[in-house]
Amino acid sequence: MGHDLVIVANRLPVDRVTDRNGKAHWRRSPGGLVSAIEPVMRAHDGVWIGWPGGTKAFKPFKVDGLDLVPLAMSAEEIEEHYEGFSNGTLWPLYHDVVAKPEFHREWWDTYVKVNRRFAERTAELANDGATVWVHDYQLQLVPQMLRELRPDLRIGFYLHIPFPPAELFQQLPWRRQILEGLLGADLVGFQLPGAAQNFIRLVRQRVGHKTHRDLVYLPDGRTVRAAAFPISIDAAGFEELARSEAVAERAEAIRDALGNPRKIFLGIDRLDYTKGIHARLRAFGELIRDGALTVDDAVFVQVAVPSRERVEHYRNLRDDIELLVGRINGDLGRIGRPAVSYLHTSYPREEMAALYRAADIMVVTPYRDGMNLVAKEYVACRVDDDGALVLSEFAGAADELRQAWLVNPYDMNGMKAALLEAYEAEPKELTRRMKAMRRQIAQHDVKAWADSFMTELEDDSHSHTKSVRP
Ligand code: G6P
Repeated sequence: MGHDLVIVANRLPVDRVTDRNGKAHWRRSPGGLVSAIEPVMRAHDGVWIGWPGGTKAFKPFKVDGLDLVPLAMSAEEIEEHYEGFSNGTLWPLYHDVVAKPEFHREWWDTYVKVNRRFAERTAELANDGATVWVHDYQLQLVPQMLRELRPDLRIGFYLHIPFPPAELFQQLPWRRQILEGLLGADLVGFQLPGAAQNFIRLVRQRVGHKTHRDLVYLPDGRTVRAAAFPISIDAAGFEELARSEAVAERAEAIRDALGNPRKIFLGIDRLDYTKGIHARLRAFGELIRDGALTVDDAVFVQVAVPSRERVEHYRNLRDDIELLVGRINGDLGRIGRPAVSYLHTSYPREEMAALYRAADIMVVTPYRDGMNLVAKEYVACRVDDDGALVLSEFAGAADELRQAWLVNPYDMNGMKAALLEAYEAEPKELTRRMKAMRRQIAQHDVKAWADSFMTELEDDSHSHTKSVRP
């Protein structure tokens, strides 16, 4: 039996974990995407296709009643599709070329091959006239491949990361294929309006299709809409967690363990070169060196979540950051008072919520970021309307969280000034800013995001041959 809704993403919403007795089982991934899409999946008899991680093949299975279909990758496919083209070519290219993208023809060939397999499996699973929602940069060719196999389907695509300006995108030797791949969808969603505009402009310039505002008119009479749907978090869920006694107690315990400094700075990021971890720690170190802050009054807790560790850029970044942390602590720390408390690990939601509650100043300084959910999670967890957010202008979240201390992460002095201002801000000022940000997050949560995308996708008033060409 087929399905009326197919979610297609590089990863499944579950992780393979081994318990204490050595028994392996599936555990739901902590991200908010699953909880957002879950109600949509249940309402539509949905199925989720994705790579389970590793090279092992698994049969389709259910977790908490959700139908999951794992798609295995070989070691070579992991190297060339996932680590190579997705994370060595597209990831840096789409993030403002913060690192140099590598262009290898073998990587591209494998990207095509893996995208085709995803499209073929989706075509097998989808009922007549079903809706398909494809996610993210690893699968940009799936919409077109799928449309060729199954023209009856309604296809949506959502890009979770930035979509670069034409000046950068055009470096890609396969730029036209990617654009055409995306144009297989009826609706292409981005985090921000600027990304949708970049896409429309590229389609006009590089593929030569007519466009008008957010619509692309294809020669076969079909139209494609490109628009912004800024993603969010399960705000109520985080708030409830942050209010729980266990989390409040754990937050106290964290402050105690750190020696109850006057103020705690916090950074939580996947260990990724787009996140600006190195620069922010430097800024903090300089503030201590300058005497503007002391290690008795302030500590910086940096959680770096291991990520993509087989990709060279990521390995080098870890070494760079750990060298810097060692230097800062060696030069500026005292016994029992490190300047930076550095953790290379990942934590469950409860511990994250406790860290958010314990921290006075949350520091989120990416060079480029599609959205950045950590910034939103911090706001959702500040149930007492206090705490400061220092946020990069280049994170998608900066469009919504206007009351943060907004910084340019390339401007070291500007960043130092903002960290200090946030540190010294009056409680009244903190409350004024936090209240406004909390209102924004409460009103625009991840459920609203998923609903608005699905509603737009299923509204065919401007699609296919029905649409009037200009
Ligand atoms: C970003 C991407 C996701 C990706 C996640 C984790 O949020 O947009 O597509 O799944 O990072 O990265 P990973 O490479 O571990 O899947």
